[in-house]
Amino acid sequence: NVGEVCDETDDRSVRLPDIRSRPDHSTVLFAHPRHFDVRYRINPYMGGRVDTDRAREQWRTLKDAYERYATSVAVLDPAETWTALEDGEYSDEDADAVSPAHLPDMVFCANHGLATPDGTGVVPATMATDERAGEPTHFAAWCDDRGYEVLDAPDYRFEGTGDAIWHPEKRLLWGGYGVRTDQRVYDELADRLDATVLTLELTDDHYYHLDVCFAPLDASTVLIQPDAFTADGLATIRTVFDRVLEAPLEESRNGLACNCHCVDGETVLLGAGNPRTERVLSEAGFDPVPIPTDEFQKAGGSVCCLKLELGALT
Ligand code: ARG
Repeated sequence: NVGEVCDETDDRSVRLPDIRSRPDHSTVLFAHPRHFDVRYRINPYMGGRVDTDRAREQWRTLKDAYERYATSVAVLDPAETWTALEDGEYSDEDADAVSPAHLPDMVFCANHGLATPDGTGVVPATMATDERAGEPTHFAAWCDDRGYEVLDAPDYRFEGTGDAIWHPEKRLLWGGYGVRTDQRVYDELADRLDATVLTLELTDDHYYHLDVCFAPLDASTVLIQPDAFTADGLATIRTVFDRVLEAPLEESRNGLACNCHCVDGETVLLGAGNPRTERVLSEAGFDPVPIPTDEFQKAGGSVCCLKLELGALT
């Protein structure tokens, strides 16, 4: 049931399923930045020299902010998953696990997978690039160890919540495709997760993931960078959300302003240095909280992709 937006007189005619079960994504996962660096260029933002100490401090500040807002915060430490993988604590398929020392983007755990609506399981990513292909094995091992059901990774390229974003309070998944994620993955996910999926095509690699140009803030409000979308995509977004806020182009690109996260229906954590976007948010009644993430922006990521929402830890 990949959704069709009906273009009829009633522009609310998209079929939005009821909240059959409110997504339980109360654990926010972070991946330790122990090996974070910029050592290759797989998106147009990547470049510059990372100050490792500053990066760790920024990561800690962000994690601390979530300690305040999230029900629980968990940390995947790649040193631990590597030890466990080497010791053969996980299945044979993981035997080809790559040392996290060779995975400098692993801190961006948003891309490692997607939580199921009920929060008990995860769909690991099928990374689009060789550089990051080794990451989901660590994520799957970590999840398995903590009792989450680890579903099969999709047959097609799929970069987790970088491209697949749950609509707040609905069993509706927004699916970005075209740069990293393959559109075909969404038929499979709609089926497997019993969810409606609305897909949005991305054509410009400045918007290489949906989460750099699209941030649902609450069930009726989204912050977007309109430049990222096709006319059809924009129409779909406007059909579903009552309020479509636009971030300025320059802050969307230079400050990854749309890579933000509304943690409680009101407070929006976003990368520091985006004053115009902050104003857009405040004027719409949100409370923007800037957090410095510029070390991670050297790799093309900010607040939203440094975390992954999972179901409650048992
Ligand atoms: N360097 C990483 C990449 O290009 C950054 C990932 C950021 N993640 C995100 N969901 N936007 O894959």
